[in-house]
Amino acid sequence: MFDYSDCVNVPAVDPQKRRKKRIAVIPGDGIGQEVIPQAVKVIEATGAEVALSYFDWGADRYLRDGTTVPPDGFAKLGCDFDAILVGAFGDPRVKSNIHAKEILLGMRFQMDLYANVRPVRLLDAALCPLKGVAPKDVDFVVVRENTEGVYTDAGGVFKQGTADEVAIQEDINTRKGVERIIRYAFEYCERHTRLDGSPRSQVLMCDKSNAMTHAGGLWQRVFQEVGGEYPQITAQHMYVDALCMQMVRDPRQFDMIVTNNMFGDIITDLAAGLQGGLGMAASGNIHPGKTSMFEPVHGSAPPIAGKNVANPFGAILTAAMMLRHLELAKEADKVEAAVLEAVRQKKTTQDIGGALGTREAGEWVAKRVSRG
Ligand code: NAI
Ligand code: MG
Repeated sequence: MFDYSDCVNVPAVDPQKRRKKRIAVIPGDGIGQEVIPQAVKVIEATGAEVALSYFDWGADRYLRDGTTVPPDGFAKLGCDFDAILVGAFGDPRVKSNIHAKEILLGMRFQMDLYANVRPVRLLDAALCPLKGVAPKDVDFVVVRENTEGVYTDAGGVFKQGTADEVAIQEDINTRKGVERIIRYAFEYCERHTRLDGSPRSQVLMCDKSNAMTHAGGLWQRVFQEVGGEYPQITAQHMYVDALCMQMVRDPRQFDMIVTNNMFGDIITDLAAGLQGGLGMAASGNIHPGKTSMFEPVHGSAPPIAGKNVANPFGAILTAAMMLRHLELAKEADKVEAAVLEAVRQKKTTQDIGGALGTREAGEWVAKRVSRG
């Protein structure tokens, strides 16, 4: 694993001390290459003091010279940058998806970005497929464990290709990993307000401890223990299947949700549906105090890539999240306000009811940001 003590210079830990924030930009594959330039345009329109460096990691590079991540890649990101802005990885020409695994999971695992934070916000009632749901009704945050679970690739296949084939996919849950993500959720709850300014007050842990008793048992015990340290916050629990039903039936009841890697992956696609689809959802992969990575929730969407139809707002809202993380709150506010106005005025791509292309929607937001 990459270690900050390997950095020759003082690592990129204290962004406050540096005026210009150094941002690594990795557009990646497919629509990543279309939405990230729009997010960059919007960042530039805020006038934020940033220095952007581009990385060509992705399928094209892999197919050209076999490189997924150069040997010193993660060390460079960790030592030389304050944050990383990423598009998406996945290309039908790379059947194994090896580059996506090594780059994306590599960043999450090697840089120990253990908290995947995914805000779920409805900007306009028209975007929600549910009846009678207003923007104030969908305002919760999912905190997904990002370094363990079934994504560590532990396991194997035995007697492959025979009638006796056995496939084992291990679910890794460590005390340290479970505790730090649960604590992160409680800390986040304590420090953040809802969009209307009211305090956040509830953390819900979701698991499948009725069936997956060993891992679930650990999550249950740790949740009880850590929750006990935050008496002012209500600790709740739901099984993941019941949670899915409740998210659709009544999303008003949620404030913060903390869960493991796989359940977090799944429920945030469902949550994106409440916000207007994958094109609207933002996320951060965070290790407090270290270089963190920000990416829209969506993938590379090969069928719509290169057509100027992908919604850039998920990437733009991701950029706002990154700016806020870098303590550029004023700039982040401007970006979020501009996206909200674009949605209200239907200056959007077709997936959410507008008639603009990726570039045009990005430009509209950038103009609005530079005016305001
Ligand atoms: P996807 O997110 O790329 O697409 C799912 C559906 O949502 C598609 O119908 C797509 O057209 C639509 N969509 C996604 N983003 C959109 C946007 N910005 N605007 C409008 N519509 C949008 O997920 P899918 O199809 O499962 O995966 C495609 C590739 O992306 C695969 O190679 C997959 O492994 C990879 N992937 C990568 C991720 C990442 O890099 N973080 C996350 C998810 C998938
Ligand atoms: Mg996903």
